[in-house]
Amino acid sequence: MERFQRELTDFIQKLYEGERKVLVCGEGRMGARVMLIGEAPGEQESLQGRPFVGKAGRNLDAFLEAAGLARSDLYVTNAVKFRPTKRSKAGRTVNRPPTQEEVRIFLPWLLREIGLVNPRYVVTLGNVPLKALLGPGHVIGEMHGRLIDWEGRGLYPLYHPASVIYNPSLKDVYSQDVARFARILQKD
Ligand code: URA
Repeated sequence: MERFQRELTDFIQKLYEGERKVLVCGEGRMGARVMLIGEAPGEQESLQGRPFVGKAGRNLDAFLEAAGLARSDLYVTNAVKFRPTKRSKAGRTVNRPPTQEEVRIFLPWLLREIGLVNPRYVVTLGNVPLKALLGPGHVIGEMHGRLIDWEGRGLYPLYHPASVIYNPSLKDVYSQDVARFARILQKD
């Protein structure tokens, strides 16, 4: 994994020469049973250099607790590994969703990362990692909470925890999906 991270860092530095891109690489155990794939790092993640340590990280902890998992059972990463930003009207640096081009640039690296970690289950959070892996025709609204076969692994799409904050009506669906995933893990 160190070699992977070094090669990825070199690749991104060359590609975005002159721009300062802070990479937030994945974290967790090789051979973890479950790999969680988010969208992209936010401000806290970029500052601390670790995935899911900000507000979304607190949601992640709730996910772990509900699914009866410990961080050590998991490998956590993102589809895009730097923080996508834009200038707000007030001139502040704020998050924006990753572009399709950014997702495309990182996809071969994400696939290689999945191969290295070799998880039994891949859990995608929201549309960005779902579409990255399955293609643009797949939408979370139709696929959440359903275990599908993907490249010899179980792929389980969940809503992004942040979307549950913005849209509280998703909270029950999200909790049911997490509980269903916990049962899948228990039975397997
Ligand atoms: N949201 C994500 O999708 N990933 C992070 O690492 C943090 C917030």
